Amino acid sequence: MKNIVLLGFMGTGKTSVGRLLARQLKRPFVDVDKMIEIACGAAISEIFQKHGEKFFREQESEMIAKAASYENAVIATGGGVVLNAENIARLRCNGVLVTLTASPEVILERTAKRTTRPLLNAPDREQTVKALLENREPLYQEADYIIDTTSGSLHQIAQKIIVLLRQGGHLRGRG
Ligand code: S3P
Repeated sequence: MKNIVLLGFMGTGKTSVGRLLARQLKRPFVDVDKMIEIACGAAISEIFQKHGEKFFREQESEMIAKAASYENAVIATGGGVVLNAENIARLRCNGVLVTLTASPEVILERTAKRTTRPLLNAPDREQTVKALLENREPLYQEADYIIDTTSGSLHQIAQKIIVLLRQGGHLRGRG
């Protein structure tokens, strides 16, 4: 079966929902940010700090190419993968693309707790989130399915995805 690829802005729940979805569908879970950290032997924030965003994006594209070659996996991507059209083309070849969205207020709240996202370590976080969202919104819209995670439990969101994928003929039997 094709991969299920989760796209979306930081704080929309890609990792938490993806992990649960994988468990429920009994599929392997792949976290592209984790792959990058393992390959580089450093945390995302350190990679940005030491080598800059351009280097990070190169690593990200390499790991996307690798993840896109998997089968049957649930893949959680980093929020910026959509910036490179080639990433999306690769993921689409062997995957169904699901964008998770959330309101800017909820994104700000969810991302406030951790300082692991270098792009959000800005003096005006609200302005930064709004500008990035505006820039990326049309790219996230290119997914096959769009799910709002502003409200609802992780289980409800995972269930919503399963129902949509089943209706679209992307899941066989129980998954
Ligand atoms: C980024 C999102 C992060 C991570 C990096 C850059 C982005 O992943 O890849 O900090 O450009 O939106 P999450 O979306 O999992 O936080």
